[in-house]
Amino acid sequence: MSSQNIYILAIESSCDDTAASILLNGKVLSNVVANQKIHEEYGGVVPELASRAHQQNIVPVVHQAIEKAGITKEMLNAIAFTRGPGLMGSLLVGTSFAKSLAFGLNIPLIEVNHMQAHILAHFIDEEGFNKPPFPFLAMTISGGHTQIVKVSNYFEMEVIGETIDDAVGEAFDKSGKILGLGYPAGPEIDRRARLGNPKAFAFTKPKVNGLNFSFSGLKTAILYFIQKQVKENPNFIEENLNDICASIQYTIIGILIDKLKLASKQTGISHIAIGGGVSANSGIREALKNGEQKFGWTTYVPKFEFTTDNAAMIAIVGYFKYLEGNFTTQGITASSRLKI
Ligand code: KG4
Ligand code: ZN
Repeated sequence: MSSQNIYILAIESSCDDTAASILLNGKVLSNVVANQKIHEEYGGVVPELASRAHQQNIVPVVHQAIEKAGITKEMLNAIAFTRGPGLMGSLLVGTSFAKSLAFGLNIPLIEVNHMQAHILAHFIDEEGFNKPPFPFLAMTISGGHTQIVKVSNYFEMEVIGETIDDAVGEAFDKSGKILGLGYPAGPEIDRRARLGNPKAFAFTKPKVNGLNFSFSGLKTAILYFIQKQVKENPNFIEENLNDICASIQYTIIGILIDKLKLASKQTGISHIAIGGGVSANSGIREALKNGEQKFGWTTYVPKFEFTTDNAAMIAIVGYFKYLEGNFTTQGITASSRLKI
């Protein structure tokens, strides 16, 4: 790799987080994220409000990233940005801003695929975190995505399984909504699950062929189950909340681990990495660790700030592309359904 000092500024605005980060070679100098609280009261991300908030946040966030890194914008070698996938209105804000700044500074512009970035986040230099060797399997699990990807090299990736309906984070959040929990419900379900009995209630796992996932049936099953129980006992939720959360989480983790087992068996790959907001879940982390003993896996979970949506992961991809001279032109546009 290069012995030169390369400074990359990256911008991420694909969903509801406005983020900017500066990398010096593979190391993070700053990683700033502005979360949008506005969506909480609506119980989900409202696209129109998200793009407006990005518009408000982007300049202060980029400014802060540059300040925290202790550099000036004239020192930047390139600007990387999330081209997609994501919400169109949100992507447009980051894309336009990155284009203008690169144009103004007269430096290269680098487009980044958000899903590749979640995976390559494992290659950010960070003490105490190992980088997976190629080939490895990456499972990206968040409120917006659920995929299993075979990663043969930095830019040689193949999606071998993905959700056919809801993302796994949505399964947590929608279940939480049924139970009257706030948004996003994932962390609360996780916390309560630790206090409850995972086998208290049984939910059937969906039957989906191959390595694909489905979570919408589970949500419906949970809804009908709760409605039926509440009819018999109006206090059912309050009296059993921890057990319900533990049982839901146990079912979801079972679905994820089953598919990972199958993917590992089919590909013969035992290095398994996860990323995305749901990888914060204590149950999935424990199940993954157990997989090391049970199935001979070696597992990788990145530092928390690089698992949820962030711009450091965009910057690391930008850095690798910079080394290859893989730049894009000013004619580039955002792409909400960009594939890996
Ligand atoms: O990656 P992320 O911050 O944003 C995107 O969706 O891209 O992921 C957010 C999702 C939400 O659905 C949230 O409920 C879920 O991650 N989540 C969790 C936990 N922490 C966040 N789900 C289960 N357990 C957690 N501890
Ligand atoms: Zn994401």
